[in-house]
Amino acid sequence: MIRIVKGNADNYQVDFYFKNDTDLNGISANIREIFGGEYLQSVFLAKENGTMSLLVGLGTEINDRLHIKELSAKAVKQMKLHKINTFSMNIGKVISAYGIDCIRDIAEGLMLGCYEQVKFPAQDREDFIIDLNGIPDKEMEAAKFLLKETIPVIEGVRFARDMVNLPGNQLRPAQFAEEIKIFLKDTGVKTELFDYAKLKKMGMGGLTAVGESSEFPPCFMIVRYLADPDNQEITALVGKGVTCDTGGYCLKPAASMLGIKGDMAGGAAVTGAIYALAKNKVKTNVIGLIPICENRISPGSLLPGDVITSYSGKTIEVINTDAEGRLILADTVAYATANEKVTRVLDIATLTGAVVNMLGFSVAGVVTDDQKFFEEFRSAYKISGERYWRLPVYPEHEKMIKSKIADIKNMGEKHCGTITAGLFIKAFANGLPWLHIDIAGTAWVDSPIFEYQSQGATGAGVTSIYYLCNKNRSTDRKER
Ligand code: BES
Ligand code: ZN
Ligand code: ZN
Repeated sequence: MIRIVKGNADNYQVDFYFKNDTDLNGISANIREIFGGEYLQSVFLAKENGTMSLLVGLGTEINDRLHIKELSAKAVKQMKLHKINTFSMNIGKVISAYGIDCIRDIAEGLMLGCYEQVKFPAQDREDFIIDLNGIPDKEMEAAKFLLKETIPVIEGVRFARDMVNLPGNQLRPAQFAEEIKIFLKDTGVKTELFDYAKLKKMGMGGLTAVGESSEFPPCFMIVRYLADPDNQEITALVGKGVTCDTGGYCLKPAASMLGIKGDMAGGAAVTGAIYALAKNKVKTNVIGLIPICENRISPGSLLPGDVITSYSGKTIEVINTDAEGRLILADTVAYATANEKVTRVLDIATLTGAVVNMLGFSVAGVVTDDQKFFEEFRSAYKISGERYWRLPVYPEHEKMIKSKIADIKNMGEKHCGTITAGLFIKAFANGLPWLHIDIAGTAWVDSPIFEYQSQGATGAGVTSIYYLCNKNRSTDRKER
């Protein structure tokens, strides 16, 4: 729990110092020798009145909001390490140097810095009580507003992390759908679940063809949050929900198998974002669509060379059974544009190894041919602090997925793998504005890159999608 208080320090308090901060002058020479306020430096200091202060260094200048997240994450991690669950944090310096909006980043760093993944057998998760003090009176109201908004957003991130971290055998397709339902239970969001029989009847040829590879059948989750009835705009948020991706008959090598349980990060991100939109009662219309299945080997599995008919009626030549994500996303995007009155489509997926080779683990790929949609997304990720990079799309890329025997094929040439994967999905979007996010690199970190990450799932995408769909965010505070 994070609270904003006016009062004094708790028994344990975090205090921030710039490099060569004049406030350091009052501190004992012993401590000054080892602590100079360098970025992310930290040291505990016992005070004369018996309380403890955790000194955390701000460095010289912070020019990226993720630095503030790192600082508060560092602080909570240090406290956690010393089993201190109740503490205060003086954020006065940070606010006066970088503005009140930093509250978002401070809260995010705190809530993610203490994140721990689910263990087996289950253990209670630690609860923290953190009091933020040092906020000037005139900023108090804004601080409270921003904190209140941020908490559900980061709860969404933590949910996405939980889902991705769960082992495949603890999260089969039906369980993932159930977890989504449970998480959204108190938000007023309506969920609808299509089971395998329904998908078969509807002709969801991509999703059923992939899902039939497993004894745990596929399903399809629809999450409707329509809170702006006067507005015709509805954004489809499509998230890949493969709870386990072995590659199918195009089997992944053993070394690539460990991360396969995280192939539903897109679906988890969509759920987390919609949760936050609903909790914050944001005036917007979004429909989440999550195709859920496993990709495994069984007598009925797809084989390379097979041709299937997708929900749209288009035929697909399956070159590689490991390119399963786009098969299920194609059905989903086609279903959304045909039946849900959506006006634009965003999809998010752990889709290609190519994006990892290109951008690594801290930057996600974006593919879109819609400048306006991209600009909107860009302004959203400037607030969230996540990193994205847009890739080019040209007609020559589209040619790469032309099939000789079907309408389209599910794999292009050796190069441009992320672009062709995106364009494959675009082919099913019925000409609507479309934007594709490939989080194959950013959804998971084996070695954390930033302080607010821990080994495993990152919850990538949740915050940026939330801010994309919250158009009023910049004016909210003025209107209040
Ligand atoms: N889920 C994988 C992509 C992935 C790779 C996610 C690495 C996380 C980390 C996806 O289904 C896949 O296997 N894609 C193939 C596509 C190829 C066969 C065209 C890939 O990128 O190798
Ligand atoms: Zn795959
Ligand atoms: Zn996959």
